[in-house]
Amino acid sequence: MFSMKHFLSLKDFTKDEILHIVNISIDIKHSFLNGKKIQPYFKDKTLAMIFEKSSTRTRISFEIGAYQLGGMALFLSNKEIQLGRGESIKDTARVISSMADMIMIRTFEHSRLEEFSKFSNKPVINGLSNEYHPTQLIADYITMVECGIGMDDYNCKYKNLRKPVVCYIGDGNNMAHSWLMLASKLGFELRVATPKDFSVDSEILDLAIQFAKHSGAIIKMTNSPQEAAVNANVITTDTWISMGQESNKEYKIKQFSGFCVDSNIIKLGDDAIFLHCLPAYRGYEVTDDVIESKHSKVFLEAENRLHAHKGIITFLEEKNWKR
Ligand code: CP
Ligand code: NVA
Repeated sequence: MFSMKHFLSLKDFTKDEILHIVNISIDIKHSFLNGKKIQPYFKDKTLAMIFEKSSTRTRISFEIGAYQLGGMALFLSNKEIQLGRGESIKDTARVISSMADMIMIRTFEHSRLEEFSKFSNKPVINGLSNEYHPTQLIADYITMVECGIGMDDYNCKYKNLRKPVVCYIGDGNNMAHSWLMLASKLGFELRVATPKDFSVDSEILDLAIQFAKHSGAIIKMTNSPQEAAVNANVITTDTWISMGQESNKEYKIKQFSGFCVDSNIIKLGDDAIFLHCLPAYRGYEVTDDVIESKHSKVFLEAENRLHAHKGIITFLEEKNWKR
């Protein structure tokens, strides 16, 4: 029986599939930068993009990416569609998927995406949920590989890569969960440092530990940013106040004192690159001088969203329709 492949979380993907998406994205990026015509993998097709939360990078990169692949994208803010006035997810999914060829959704609970995908007869992409932000991790991994850090047991253009030792400092949020999925699927070392009361979701951690048993990943949880950063070659963080969590902002900021990635943290790493999905709040989770330093690859990382998303769209087209 045909079962639709969606892109909701890296937990649903094998290591080979993740690296395949990375490779497609890198190939597309190189063609694009060398002025070669990109294969129109999404020719005359439409990507409907539903945003229940704000976005700069995700919106722009999916919209431009769909266009560069020969198709077009539709921006649908929940303020303007009936979903925002209470129309059910299942009805919305059936209607939109009867017209569009692919749907990207940025939403709150991950279960909203799961329900949408259940009723959609077209592939659905998670453009961020409270629990996961998987498209970001494809761009992050491309950025790592371009900086000479990555798994060496797969066939890619980049050779002699340093095996990732990633240190995530900050909130146990959708980015932390997505790093847990990437590390545990690919098999590298991830240290996550959060304040005590802001740890990652325990079910997601358990899942990562299960995956790590197969991949050989090393997953470490700590409350010490310094301990996590020692000899890491990637140091990353994210906002302390994710979208939809603004109500306890002042309290949270106090709890996160000591978790700012500053130059002293970067110095503990092994010539580490600094990543941040952005938007960044300078002076909170990261200092201005770290973002502006030679270690920082955050703008390359943001640019790579464009190529990652073309890779994800192409993969879903290939997987679902070109069997
Ligand atoms: N990193 C990221 O998803 O950025 P936006 O919220 O601007 O889309
Ligand atoms: N954790 C952040 C990521 C923003 C791209 C949020 O969910 O708001």
